[in-house]
Amino acid sequence: MMRKDLLGLEELEAQEILDILDTAEAFREVIDRPIKKVPTLRGKTVANLFYEPSTRTRISFELAEKRLSADSFSFSKATSSVVKGETLKDTVKNIEAMMVDFVVVRHGASGAPHFIAKNIAASVINAGDGQHEHPTQGLLDMFTMRRVKGDLAGLKVVIVGDVTHSRVARSNIWGLTKLGADVHVAGPTTLTPREIEKMGVTTTWKVEEALEGADVVNVLRIQKERQDANLLPSLREYAIHFGVTQERLKRAKSDVVIMHPGPMNRGVEIAQDVAEDERNVILEQVTNGVAARMAVLYLLNGGKPVSSEKAMEAVEV
Ligand code: CP
Repeated sequence: MMRKDLLGLEELEAQEILDILDTAEAFREVIDRPIKKVPTLRGKTVANLFYEPSTRTRISFELAEKRLSADSFSFSKATSSVVKGETLKDTVKNIEAMMVDFVVVRHGASGAPHFIAKNIAASVINAGDGQHEHPTQGLLDMFTMRRVKGDLAGLKVVIVGDVTHSRVARSNIWGLTKLGADVHVAGPTTLTPREIEKMGVTTTWKVEEALEGADVVNVLRIQKERQDANLLPSLREYAIHFGVTQERLKRAKSDVVIMHPGPMNRGVEIAQDVAEDERNVILEQVTNGVAARMAVLYLLNGGKPVSSEKAMEAVEV
């Protein structure tokens, strides 16, 4: 990967995305082994900067780093000098002074990882910035779809929910459209940005209509913490009109793959029995997240993309 940073899928070429997905396959083999560790990043240091809460992404990056033999530490806003008023730039400059090689950052402000990337020499990985992008979530979602369904070209993927506030939706849309998937977006018109169709997706407020013949449904979390403009009806109304239920899923293909980035609001965007449906791959997404993040760290460190049975040898040197 001829890049210093991974800030979004918007700027990646289709071939770069394919290289990451192929390489993630090699790392998925590593994490399926009894001993889940390779020496690929020995001697490298990773700082995980989380200015917003996270369960999956933070733990997944921490595990990916450990499994690549990197040294790493995690920083959370609440227990740092940010609460004493330190600026983002000063914080990252101080962390850089401790000779880190990678900075993984989650921040509530769209563009914060780009600002950091411009100010430090270390590689920066966006772990979710505001309403902008969550590129490693997009990659792990595509990796999971590809493992179940094969080639993504022509696959009908339906993203349901609050697209306006969703960095996961934007990264999925950028990545999936570059790889030729047929992407549909469904949700309340108040939570569907008008310009989203310019990204090459079909939109509707009718979830049933969007789900017709779907291969994959990716259900977005209703982000209660970002609803500040009364764009959302009550959660009960949302569930009635837009929730993904077994009844609505009858319109999709019988082997539809059900996805959710987590954390789930059961009974709101996803019905309890859909969250438990045997066609869901929600925990598989979490497992694949570690492999996808290992692949990103390995490639940003200058590793060559691997896609063959030679994969294991390549990542072990
Ligand atoms: N999918 C996701 O970003 O989850 P977390 O907020 O728990 O990291």
